[in-house]
Amino acid sequence: MYVCLCHGITDRAIKKAVTEQGVGSVRELKEQLGVGSQCGRCVQMAQQIIDTTIIDE
Ligand code: FES
Repeated sequence: MYVCLCHGITDRAIKKAVTEQGVGSVRELKEQLGVGSQCGRCVQMAQQIIDTTIIDE
């Protein structure tokens, strides 16, 4: 599923960034993948995915 349409970032790509690159916040995700750096509509969803991925680890 696409989370960030502006950058074509999927939920899987976000989970991977959290588990493999230690991303723990939307700010870090923005630095790594560009998520949320254009329209910003994806930020809330991205935050939820980060949170649930960290809980699942
Ligand atoms: Fe992510 Fe627009 S959908 S910045």
